[in-house]
Amino acid sequence: MNDQLIEPLTYDFSGVTFVSGAPPIAQEAGLTEADVRSFSVRLDSFRQEMFADRRLFESGGVIPEDSQPLDAAFWGLPERMLGPDRAILDQILSAADRMADEVDRVVVLGIGGSYMGAQAMYQACCHPYHNELPRDKRSGRPRMYFEGNNVDSDSVASLLELLSGVEKAGGVEGSWGIIVISKSGETLETAVAFRLFLEALQKSCDGDVQMIKRRVIVVTGADSRLRKMAEALGCFDIFPVFDGVGGRFSVLSPVGLLPAAVLGLDVVSLLKGAVAMNDRFRGSSPEDNPVLNYVSVGRLMEVRRRASIRVLSIWGKSLESLGLWYDQLLGESLGKNGQGATPLTVVNTRDLHSRGQQHQEGRRDKLITNLVVRHTSRAPVEVKKLNLNQDNLNELAGKTIKDIMMAAVAGTNKAYFDDYRPAATIEIARVDESALGQLFQMFMLATVVEGYLIGVNPYGQPGVEAYKRNMNEFLRK
Ligand code: PA5
Repeated sequence: MNDQLIEPLTYDFSGVTFVSGAPPIAQEAGLTEADVRSFSVRLDSFRQEMFADRRLFESGGVIPEDSQPLDAAFWGLPERMLGPDRAILDQILSAADRMADEVDRVVVLGIGGSYMGAQAMYQACCHPYHNELPRDKRSGRPRMYFEGNNVDSDSVASLLELLSGVEKAGGVEGSWGIIVISKSGETLETAVAFRLFLEALQKSCDGDVQMIKRRVIVVTGADSRLRKMAEALGCFDIFPVFDGVGGRFSVLSPVGLLPAAVLGLDVVSLLKGAVAMNDRFRGSSPEDNPVLNYVSVGRLMEVRRRASIRVLSIWGKSLESLGLWYDQLLGESLGKNGQGATPLTVVNTRDLHSRGQQHQEGRRDKLITNLVVRHTSRAPVEVKKLNLNQDNLNELAGKTIKDIMMAAVAGTNKAYFDDYRPAATIEIARVDESALGQLFQMFMLATVVEGYLIGVNPYGQPGVEAYKRNMNEFLRK
């Protein structure tokens, strides 16, 4: 798979450019192709600024006070992990294999950018019922659970109960481990969960210190409290969150790569997909640049058409967590100084039966971006002829579920188009690591370009500090 050709994703904004010759309502709702392409040319200066910032960061130059934090290192991560930091990638792969050999369940502790990318990959690339399959049907890879992303007592108690129940099985089947991920190493949700799960693991390992050292893998920043704790425990593997890589931009660092590798995912293809997107961002002309065009459409729709809600309309269940990852990326990066579009992920056709009405006939404050998958991952399921035809579905016999899905995509887009509801489309060949690498990188680059454009520092999340401060004050009173 690693040497296979990358099938590039496409970004098509023709569903937004319906204005020529259309009635006034359309003129007020959409854009022209020329609008989009010429705006992308204007964005080129921000692309150049990003190159300059990346160079400044990588050369260790002095970052001006008003540009901090400047977490520009995310951008070079895929090349770095496949090149100069290949040794770290190899270490990740061997730690992951060791964990997979020794345990049948892994609890990933982390919150926000420290788990959402991993969850997106788990949901997209693993079998939808991964955790319910027997070990041999999971290619010997562990089941995975995500905790430490809330302070929900019942949720924690239930997982602890489940783990203590399975321990009775003994051997690998009864064994579990922890991956704890926190860049700051101080986030309360994750830190509290780590205490609880570590205590349970110590019991489960019967106090065997050597075993615990192998069964806890830590990903954290330099000098963090968590790192100190991991060192005190003597953990065999402690991976870095590199300087200059912010949480929600860290999916292609050990933060996302380690859980993905534990699941046996093809992390090299993931990184290569991201490299391919970097190459397109760098190498394509502004008018034909998927990242710049994507930003142009979003921004022009927001300022010229008051479409401040960006709906990522996902056609397939397995990409929902990717949408949630993107909600966080956009919301936390650009929602500052009273600015930033509002992200919203929907999964269709499911949500056509909940939000569809509003998106079709509600306020004209939305830009839809479809995320469509060309091929299924498994053999397409076909509708069969049946003796009973009260449901009148025999005329669909021979059609696949995928055919029905594509008819729903086309039908929904036509309905939007006919009512001048703007809908662009990103299409990927299939849901796999290579496509995810492209999508992650495209969305991260686009978010940074837009931040530069609107004068918002896309890195950092000062607004999240207020709740943490208050919560700590209430707790420690
Ligand atoms: O994007 C971000 O930086 C945040 O969402 C963080 O990932 C989140 O707050 C968790 O932080 P930490 O990794 O320090 O525990």
